[in-house]
Amino acid sequence: MTSEELQNKFGIIGRSKEIADICDIILQIAQTDISVLIYGESGVGKELFAKAIHGVSRREKQSMISVNCGAIPEGILESELFGHKKGSFTGAIETRKGYFEMADNGTLFLDEIAEMPLTTQVKLLRAIETNEFLRIGGESLTKVNVRYIAATNKDLQTQVESKKFRDDLYFRLKAVTLNIPPLRRRKEDLEMLVYHFIKKFKDENKIPKIEFSRDAWDNLYNHSWPGNVRELKNVVESAMALSRTGYIDGESLISLISSKTNYRSNDGKSVPVLVRKSAEEVDRELIYRALIELKKDILDLKGLILNRDERMDFPMLIQTEETLNIDELEKKSIITALKKTNGRKPDAAKMLNISTRTLYRKIKEYNIDE
Ligand SMILES: Nc1ncnc2c1ncn2[C@@H]1O[C@H](COP(=O)(O)OP(=O)(O)O)[C@@H](O)[C@H]1O
Ligand SMILES: [Mg+2]
Repeated sequence: MTSEELQNKFGIIGRSKEIADICDIILQIAQTDISVLIYGESGVGKELFAKAIHGVSRREKQSMISVNCGAIPEGILESELFGHKKGSFTGAIETRKGYFEMADNGTLFLDEIAEMPLTTQVKLLRAIETNEFLRIGGESLTKVNVRYIAATNKDLQTQVESKKFRDDLYFRLKAVTLNIPPLRRRKEDLEMLVYHFIKKFKDENKIPKIEFSRDAWDNLYNHSWPGNVRELKNVVESAMALSRTGYIDGESLISLISSKTNYRSNDGKSVPVLVRKSAEEVDRELIYRALIELKKDILDLKGLILNRDERMDFPMLIQTEETLNIDELEKKSIITALKKTNGRKPDAAKMLNISTRTLYRKIKEYNIDE
């Protein structure tokens, strides 16, 4: 396979030397199980390249499991990775497979690896080195055959120096390193990407395509794209969704870029985003989010109560937590997402990892004021 064929097969758009070089490396290691560490700012395509690495490997027919190490609350991460046995902790009502087992014979993509807590790093390294691990509450070791790809937007070397990342794990993961440069350093990819997203959005939504004015193109080239290809994709999609005339001038483009950038700076930071999206995962993620929000609220509430009446203690609060049902949690996370996106439903749906249609249905179901 040539690097061009690889690009076509996995929809990797770009004609920069940087992209071609990365594709060459991917092809060179295609037949090996070597670990790969992918560096790059948010939105440069780290996950897209990870999928290509998995897709050209002999593990292609098995799954690549993506896990966002920064999105899963610390207390739950280990049980998510290694699974747990029924009854091993409150809430473990069923034995559950972890991501390691799900990725057996396939690939485990550890996204935002720098966010992994040190204690989990120890267990991860042991599992990687021995291909064995203990489920939480389990008594015997489970054996797996997994290929590892990790990604981060942080400099792991610095993280190692400041003792936030274990050096042994770092060395184990970085057997091959891919650096994906930000879009602003490979602007020769921009035009192709824009046309690619126009075509994609047009086909998916059966809407007419769009043209950009000269000024609009200049603005596309002058913007620094802190959110990289993801940001560009969003801007093109918004332009197409909002334009009535099929023509976008410089000014409308600028307004799209700035409104999008504001939203993005907060995207994925305050609300965790889980990469893999089975129905079960979406449910679980909704609950995580709601719980995180709820925890904040409970702390606020605690503050309020303690201020008003210092003799009051916790049992009442714990009861509050227990009597809240899942519907309430879900409703709460929908309201939060709508608030965070200023009521923009497509953005809120994205944030919640549900389809816009589902969001509309749930808004109606829960009688949420829009
Ligand atoms: N070179 C590229 N060609 C086509 N689409 C791309 C490219 N790079 C990124 N994308 C798209 O941009 C979005 C963000 O990419 P992703 O791989 O999630 O980035 P990261 O993991 O680095 O944040 C995805 O929709 C992805 O398909
Ligand atoms: Mg990513």
